Amino acid sequence: MKSIKFKNKKLFYLDQTKLPGQEVWKSCKTIKSGWKAIKELRVRGAPLIGVFAAYSICVHLDKCSDKKAIFFNQFKKALDYLKSARPTAVNLFWALDRLDKAVSENKDKTVKQIKEIIIKEAKLIHREDISTCEKLADFGAALIKNNENILTHCNTGFLATSGQGTALGVIFKTKQQGKNPTVYIDETRPLLQGARLTAWELSKKKIKSFLITDNSAAFLMQNKMIDSIIVGADRIAASGDTANKIGTYNLAVLADYHNIPFYVAAPQSTFDLSLQKGEDIVIEKRDGVEVKKVLGGDFICPAETKALNFAFDLTPSGLITAIITDKGVIYPPYKKNIKRLIKW
Ligand code: MRU
Repeated sequence: MKSIKFKNKKLFYLDQTKLPGQEVWKSCKTIKSGWKAIKELRVRGAPLIGVFAAYSICVHLDKCSDKKAIFFNQFKKALDYLKSARPTAVNLFWALDRLDKAVSENKDKTVKQIKEIIIKEAKLIHREDISTCEKLADFGAALIKNNENILTHCNTGFLATSGQGTALGVIFKTKQQGKNPTVYIDETRPLLQGARLTAWELSKKKIKSFLITDNSAAFLMQNKMIDSIIVGADRIAASGDTANKIGTYNLAVLADYHNIPFYVAAPQSTFDLSLQKGEDIVIEKRDGVEVKKVLGGDFICPAETKALNFAFDLTPSGLITAIITDKGVIYPPYKKNIKRLIKW
């Protein structure tokens, strides 16, 4: 189950806007098409956009000069350009900064060698993301009991990472372990990542699941139909405050009220320890038209109605039972325990 491929210096991606109806693979030949694929959520999910952005730099290298000064300038510009695609998921910045660091450490080499180093680093980021998902899933699955009813939000599986996923990766692992999970999938308005992508992944993996409207979660919890909630993250501050898909905070508040464990699953690359608290995280605001139309169809409101479309929200760490990472499970007090476990 792959969502991007990089072979012979060529980059391909599964266009997630076409799912679940069509499985369309597209080729990304330019940095501009890489930027657009990220911006338009054709490639999405925090870890995946990091890996994909790194490869988007690789496909751009042939167009860059072989003269050092010009190359460094072009490379810097390309990094900044890709970073402007989306602001919240720190993995995008983290992956591009890794390429930047690899270049800085090899400034004395020829441009040809530096280009090879960039490609090598991008491939390493990709491989690491795959193994990170495995480790995270093992730690997470240990928290889940047999026959658990799990609620999840947005999409955090093999479409959102280059491995098996984060929150969804944990669920896949429990299935492999024979724990027989049942998953309740928030449809995740406005772009329906839950309905279109998570439901598709769970169906492919033959995991029992029910699609629910986002506003059903409280009723299900009230009726004791949910044992735990697992979500992903786009950026986690040093305090443990977490930015994730809009609607995550609702679930955390509800989980607290109903005394249900609320887990965040994320790799080390999703932590941003330069930010002390969640309020410092930039929350992406998207075009209101995504709210006013369902998947680009007819208006579902008067065309002149103004819509607010925050793509993410912030869950304060006090509402999070534990953060599942590839390094282990982090419990409160988060400030101290994140610092202890996360290499940043
Ligand atoms: O806007 P999206 O679809 O990129 O948002 C994705 C999410 O919010 C995910 O929960 C998050 O990136 C974690 S993916 C493993």
